Amino acid sequence: MRMIKSKKQLDLSSINKNLEIKNNFSIENQVTLYNGDCLDFLKTIPDKSVQLIVTSPPYNVGKLYEKKLKLEQYLAQQKQVIDECVRVLRDEGSICWEVGNYVDNGEIIPLDILFYDAFRQNELQLRNRIIWHFRHGLHCSKRFSGRYEVILWFTKTDNYTFNLDAVRVPQKYPGKKYFKGSKVGEYSCHPNGKNPSDVWDIPNVKSNHIEKTIHPCQFPIALVQRLILALSNESDVIFDPFLGVGSTAIAAIVNNRKAAGSEILKEYYNIACERVILAHKGLLKIRPDIPVYEPQGNLSLIKNPFLSNNEAIYENY
Ligand SMILES: C[S@@+](CC[C@H](N)C(=O)[O-])C[C@H]1O[C@@H](n2cnc3c(N)ncnc32)[C@H](O)[C@@H]1O
Repeated sequence: MRMIKSKKQLDLSSINKNLEIKNNFSIENQVTLYNGDCLDFLKTIPDKSVQLIVTSPPYNVGKLYEKKLKLEQYLAQQKQVIDECVRVLRDEGSICWEVGNYVDNGEIIPLDILFYDAFRQNELQLRNRIIWHFRHGLHCSKRFSGRYEVILWFTKTDNYTFNLDAVRVPQKYPGKKYFKGSKVGEYSCHPNGKNPSDVWDIPNVKSNHIEKTIHPCQFPIALVQRLILALSNESDVIFDPFLGVGSTAIAAIVNNRKAAGSEILKEYYNIACERVILAHKGLLKIRPDIPVYEPQGNLSLIKNPFLSNNEAIYENY
């Protein structure tokens, strides 16, 4: 999926050329990255000062950075973070909570369903349940292989920021015309492309992805970038309570927003700082939001060696 670039020129004057990463939050800071617990950091952020929160919390699956808790304990802990996130959110702001499935002895429990109540108890409104589809991952033998995660997009009020034009994508048939009615013969498509829908096909960060670091579950910068372009404006503060290696902060900085985040593990925090600085200098490798590569032609890798020539003719149907 290719994004259509906004024709508006970016105003870079508000962004300091020499990036300084601060540890204490101020709405004036270009970047604030805190090494420690997100609840401690959140306490230092004033009410209604953040436009957009994009995050992927720990999934309680026993990764290096988390202690596997009883599900109720995990949700109660997360609820505290969500309550605080709602407090710091501006009235025009949004929260995007990106989650997958909690797997317990082969049984999957979709975390977005469990998280929904915590947001509704704070009277937030769900605007989209975005399906992030990716094509690579573990192959399951006792159920279908999981190839999506979910982004719950909530707003605080009905007066929320939504810049559709910043994230339009090309239509399949841009040359289509009206065939009846008063506009017959005119092009029927929006000249700047179509709405990207609520199903996004963006590669996940696996070993050969150009953004890959040592983090086991960083999300791709293109995924956050779409949310940032659509749900915030230049110079707004974008916050990620579970920063990891800084993907949200990077997407904010390269799109002329201010970034804030907290990460509990020093090793990931240091990488986040390094990547943010590289991104600011234009030196970080970032996969653009372009369509996923589809192998074509005569490549031997895409020929099925188990089929005869005749069978192969029908292989693509
Ligand atoms: C799913 S990962 C997020 C990865 C991130 N989206 C990225 O692209 O790098 C969750 C992160 O939250 C961090 N974390 C876990 N508990 C935390 C806490 N209480 N406060 C701050 N960070 C925490 C973990 O160390 C981990 O890096």
